[in-house]
Amino acid sequence: MHNRFDLKGKNAIVTGATRGIGLAIARGFAELGATVTICGRKQETVDAALADLGSHKEQLHGVVAHVGKSEDIEQLISEAEEKFGRVNVLVNNAGTNPFFGPIVDSDERAWDKTFEVNLKGPYILSRILAKEMMKSGGGSIVNIASIAGLQAAPLQGIYSVTKAGLIMLTKVMARECGRKGVRVNCICPGVIKTHLSETLWKDEERLKAFVANKSLGRIGNTEEIVGGAIYFASDASSFTTGSVLTIDGGMVI
Ligand SMILES: NC(=O)c1ccc[n+]([C@@H]2O[C@H](COP(=O)([O-])OP(=O)(O)OC[C@H]3O[C@@H](n4cnc5c(N)ncnc54)[C@H](OP(=O)(O)O)[C@@H]3O)[C@@H](O)[C@H]2O)c1
Repeated sequence: MHNRFDLKGKNAIVTGATRGIGLAIARGFAELGATVTICGRKQETVDAALADLGSHKEQLHGVVAHVGKSEDIEQLISEAEEKFGRVNVLVNNAGTNPFFGPIVDSDERAWDKTFEVNLKGPYILSRILAKEMMKSGGGSIVNIASIAGLQAAPLQGIYSVTKAGLIMLTKVMARECGRKGVRVNCICPGVIKTHLSETLWKDEERLKAFVANKSLGRIGNTEEIVGGAIYFASDASSFTTGSVLTIDGGMVI
């Protein structure tokens, strides 16, 4: 029987995949047969990630690209296509949260930076690649949003607004691109143990208090997001678009 989760023949770009959730998704995709181009902002981190993903070397390529810069995005896409051909899976994963505090104390620099990376980058990448995918046999776009885009996240206000925007970008593009074979879905992770969420789990007492009333009583690991990304990237989700999948240990119910 055809394995609907098989990723052979899928050629993916995963942004922000030098560590954390993106790196785990890149590994999961490669293990199921996809070719994957990853990016991060620095050569050292891109090289370290490729070394970490070593056993699937021939299926992987790394590009130094800042997703807030359109010239970097063009370079990322052109290298991915040169190396492995037409891109048919895009995972908009790179994200940032530079300001923690009341929104009334934030400044425009934090607003611009958060929007640039979390929303403008995914918009530019999706716009270019969805157009190409619609012309050439379809594809799948997977946006890594957050439960902070579903529920107001106090002290992470700007981040929360960008993620709500990314969820709506998912839905609008799903409506517009579906008939031409492009599916657009998003994942809303809860708290996952990575560099980005460090302030929430580094301190043991704080972590204990945080998970006390959560359904599964713990935070998640990066590998726990991978199954959702594989589902959306693969033919297993062929009738699914505009979908918002929470993977949050039952935090938002
Ligand atoms: N961890 C959580 O609890 C959680 C919860 C909900 C949603 N998310 C979302 O999940 C995604 C991944 O987060 P994570 O927790 O895995 O974060 P992370 O561990 O901090 O990793 C972020 C990745 O993005 C890259 N990156 C950052 N800015 C970039 C830019 N401007 N251009 C290109 N790459 C960039 C980083 O690489 P370099 O530093 O090498 O550039 C790194 O590989 C984000 O969108 C985040 O909002 C995370």
